[in-house]
Amino acid sequence: MQIVLIEGDGIGPEVTQAACRVVAAAGVKVDWVKAPAGLPAAEQFGEPLPEETLEMIRRYRVALKGPCTTPVGKGYRSINVRLRQGLELFASVRPVNSLPGIRTPFENVNLIVVRENTEGLYAGLEHEVVPGVVESVRLITKPAAERIVRFAFELARHRNRRMVTFCHKADVMRLSDGLFLECARAVADDYPFIQFEEKPIDNVCLELAMDPSHYDVLVMENLFGDVISDLAAGLIGPAGPGGGLGLVPGANYGHRYAVFEAVHGSAPDIAGQGIANPIAVIRSAALMLEHIGRGEAAARIERAVMKTLEAGVALTRDLGGTGTTATITDEIIKHLQS
Ligand code: NAI
Repeated sequence: MQIVLIEGDGIGPEVTQAACRVVAAAGVKVDWVKAPAGLPAAEQFGEPLPEETLEMIRRYRVALKGPCTTPVGKGYRSINVRLRQGLELFASVRPVNSLPGIRTPFENVNLIVVRENTEGLYAGLEHEVVPGVVESVRLITKPAAERIVRFAFELARHRNRRMVTFCHKADVMRLSDGLFLECARAVADDYPFIQFEEKPIDNVCLELAMDPSHYDVLVMENLFGDVISDLAAGLIGPAGPGGGLGLVPGANYGHRYAVFEAVHGSAPDIAGQGIANPIAVIRSAALMLEHIGRGEAAARIERAVMKTLEAGVALTRDLGGTGTTATITDEIIKHLQS
C-alpha cells in the first residue's frame, strides 16, 4: 500500500524515520511515497509546499507528516495552514491521555481536542489598513461550524465518549462565536444520548489547569484549538522543555483526505542531534493505521509505546532519560515483538 510521507524539517526526518521503522515492525507493509515540504522544499523548489505534494496526497489520500518550520512574521504563510485549507482537512483531532511512568500533577487526563482547521483567525484574511493598523478577519461560516461540531459528536459516538464540550467566547465575539454557538446547539440536538455543554474558553483553561478529568471531547474554532492542544499536551507531559509535546499524536481529517502529524513543531533547538522523542509521531502513525483499517496493528503499537514508558528504559531527554531517538525506537520495537 502506498502512503505519502512528508519528512518535514528540523527533527522531522529523525522522528518520521522512527515511525516508519515501527510501522514496518508492526507487520504493515507500506510503500512510502516521499513528498517534499518545509525548508528543504523551499530551497529546492522556491516553494515550501509544492503543488506536487498536494497532488500526491490527493492521489494517495493519506499522509504521515513531520513538522515544518514557519518563519515568524514576514515570509511565507504557514504551510500547515495551507495544507489543511488546500485539502479541506477540516478537523484536527488530538487525543490527550495520561501515560504510564510519566509523573504529572494529574493522573486521570483522557480527553480529545477537536479543532476546526480551516477558518477562524487562521483563515489568512489579513491586511494592512494604513501603516500601523492591521486587520485580521475571524471567519466563521455556518457550514464549517456545523461540520466540525457534527464531526466531534460522531467521534464521541464511535469512541463511546460521554460528553462534548463546545468552547467559545460568544459573550465578546457576539456575531462570530454567536453563530458558532447556535450551530453547536442545533447539532447537539441530534445527539440527545451524548451530554453537551457549552463553556467560555477562559473558563475551560482555568478548569483544565485545575481538574482536567471533567473534560472528555472538546470542540472549538481554530485559534482556541491550537492553544488548547498545547495546553492539554502540557497536562500529561513531564516538566521541562517540550513538556508533553513529544508524546501527543494528532490527525487532520477531511471528507477525502487525512494527514497524520504530531502536535509538536520542528524543534530547531534539538534538530540533527538524534535526541528528539519520536513517540508523538509514532502514535500519529498508529492513528493513521487505524484510519486505513489496520486497527489491530495500531493497537499493538500503542501498547508497545505504553510498555516502553512504563519500563522507563531508553527514554529520551524530554522524558528525563539519556536515550536517543534510535534507542527509544528500538525499545518500542522490542515491546512490539514481545
Ligand atoms: P516546537 O514544538 O518545535 O518546540 C517547543 C519545545 O519543545 C522545544 O524546546 C523543543 O525542543 C521541544 N520539543 C518539541 N518536540 C519535541 C520532541 N519530539 N522531542 C523532544 N523535545 C521536543 O515549537 P516551536 O519552537 O514553537 O516551533 C518551531 C517551529 O515549528 C516553528 O517554525 C513553528 O512554526 C513550527 N511548527 C510546526 C508544526 C507542524 O509542522 N505541525 C507545529 C508547531 C510548530
